[in-house]
Amino acid sequence: MNKRVYSGIRATGRLHLGNYFGAVKGMLELQDNYDCIFSVVDLHTITVPYDPSTLQSSVREIIIDYLAAGLDPNKCKIEIQSMVPQHTELAYLLSTIYPVSRLEDLPTYKEKKAQYPKYINMGLLYYPVLMAADVLLYKGELVPVGIDQEPHLEVMREIARKFNSMFGQTFPEPQRFKTNGDYVPSLVGAGKMSKSINGSFINLTDDLKTIRKRLAYAPTDSGLIGGNVPETGGVANLFKLLKLFKLDKEYNKFEQDYRDKKIRYSELKDVLAEAIFKELQPFQAKRKEFINNPKLVDLIIIEGQKKCIQIVEQTIKEVRKKMGLT
Ligand code: TRP
Repeated sequence: MNKRVYSGIRATGRLHLGNYFGAVKGMLELQDNYDCIFSVVDLHTITVPYDPSTLQSSVREIIIDYLAAGLDPNKCKIEIQSMVPQHTELAYLLSTIYPVSRLEDLPTYKEKKAQYPKYINMGLLYYPVLMAADVLLYKGELVPVGIDQEPHLEVMREIARKFNSMFGQTFPEPQRFKTNGDYVPSLVGAGKMSKSINGSFINLTDDLKTIRKRLAYAPTDSGLIGGNVPETGGVANLFKLLKLFKLDKEYNKFEQDYRDKKIRYSELKDVLAEAIFKELQPFQAKRKEFINNPKLVDLIIIEGQKKCIQIVEQTIKEVRKKMGLT
């Protein structure tokens, strides 16, 4: 049997180009080669200030984005975390074997405390325990997340180890692993596209006009510098995007223009906008199909829930028994 992969996606904001090339393309590869569960982790989402009146629709939009991007419910399991109540049950059970002090020391907890000093809730402290429960519930072995999540993975393994030593071998110790994804440079001149940085990203649902507008804001220079294309900054990022979209011929042309001090960034941005829009069209067409067929989306969500509950019921039964609760 294939190794089990679990990944959680927070229900904040829609997918952008960075997610698409970074995470989603990796997920598409995974679903062909592993036993995957991809979950929208709405219970994690509510640990920071949020709007209850839009949570449902955000979760659904994310599911539709992933389906349109190519996640296939016949190849992987798609879960909405709060629809599988075993997550919270296991999280509670696991919390009883883990020290509070260790959770208080985690960098993510400290960051959130600093970010929302008036919203330091129990759920925030509990976040890594729930995340451990997410993966352990499925006895997941591989977790495709970024390096920023490594402290959470460490907690997960510590919990697995502690549980195994107290109650007998039950859980694997999950490992973080890197999927094949591309780094998508930001439109603000530094770093990568990120949904938390305004102006840095292009949404997958953007039309050509919007893409053009977003690119128009991307910083450049006077175009009269000459020499080699810089390695960092706004101009560098635009060139990186040309590469990412395999516009090699255009890349060479604009590189020469840059050297000759006659580059026209509006021209470059136009070429880029067209290419990005073209790449997004199949996604946008598929998205429309799902939007026009809400019953199908409902069915996928319910079927996902059923398949997931079937698996996790076994784990909960085993854990309850080992902990002496049944
Ligand atoms: N903490 C993860 C993030 O911020 C989201 C997450 C929740 C997750 N549960 C998970 C990721 C389980 C992987 C596995 O991205």
